[in-house]
Amino acid sequence: MSGNRAPLVEVIGLSRRYALPGGRNLQALDNVSLSVAPGEILGIVGESGCGKSTLARIVMALDRPTSGNVLLEGDDLFALSPRELARRRRNFQMIFQDPYGSLDPRMSVARIIAEPLRLLPERLSRAEKAKRVAAMLEDVGLRAEDGARFPHEFSGGQRQRIAIARALITRPKLVVADEATSALDLTVQAQILRLLRDLRARHGLTMLFISHNLGVIEEIADRVGVMQAGRLLEIGPTAAVMENPREEYTRRLLAAEPTLDFLEQPA
Ligand SMILES: Nc1ncnc2c1ncn2[C@@H]1O[C@H](COP(=O)(O)OP(=O)(O)OP(=O)(O)O)[C@@H](O)[C@H]1O
Ligand SMILES: [Mg+2]
Repeated sequence: MSGNRAPLVEVIGLSRRYALPGGRNLQALDNVSLSVAPGEILGIVGESGCGKSTLARIVMALDRPTSGNVLLEGDDLFALSPRELARRRRNFQMIFQDPYGSLDPRMSVARIIAEPLRLLPERLSRAEKAKRVAAMLEDVGLRAEDGARFPHEFSGGQRQRIAIARALITRPKLVVADEATSALDLTVQAQILRLLRDLRARHGLTMLFISHNLGVIEEIADRVGVMQAGRLLEIGPTAAVMENPREEYTRRLLAAEPTLDFLEQPA
């Protein structure tokens, strides 16, 4: 999609080294470069420990690279003042793996979803907030009345919908989803993937979608980057990479992957 538009995010030669006890170093990211175009869903796949979450955290400015850079709409992410970074936060939201751990159990669902609205420049009235939260709940397939309930009253799949509603309430330009469906069983994963595709179609969402599961990536991503041991091995249109992987490692990942063809069935 929109391949010729200026990238929303550009990752340039990104490396992250962690110092381990005993003076050793771990190269969690090694010279990774990629870009995400507006409206695109870029999948990142690779086995546990290959650096996917490290990449996600750095793109969200939750961690800093050892070297390299991230450009957000052309601007150096790590040169932004804290104030400017805060101002842009609403445009960059994250969905985490564990929908329960990331939802405050003491807050009602409506308050949880409304929370990022404080990042908006305009001050919304209480009624306007309630209206937006109700519409967002319906967008993710829950009921407006569910806002009065608490996270523990929902299933895992419903909690992930709540996390998605919270991530989308400010209408962010970019959503980074890190294993957003991995904790869910296959049917619920399929529902959430359909929901994300639907929300993308309706709201023009741009996503960096991280998963260790190639079947999930195949369902949702326009392009896919394959990572191994901190490096980006290959990147290209999802169908092309899946049908004709350039790298032996990708071939082995594909061979190990059960297919999720049933995800294509209508809801
Ligand atoms: N704060 C940290 N300190 C030291 N090492 C770290 C730190 N964070 C991550 N690592 C290491 O960096 C490597 C990459 O970790 P990362 O969490 O990015 O992997 P991942 O691809 O997200 O794995 P998973 O699929 O299991 O979530 C791992 O070897 C991990 O142990
Ligand atoms: Mg991870």
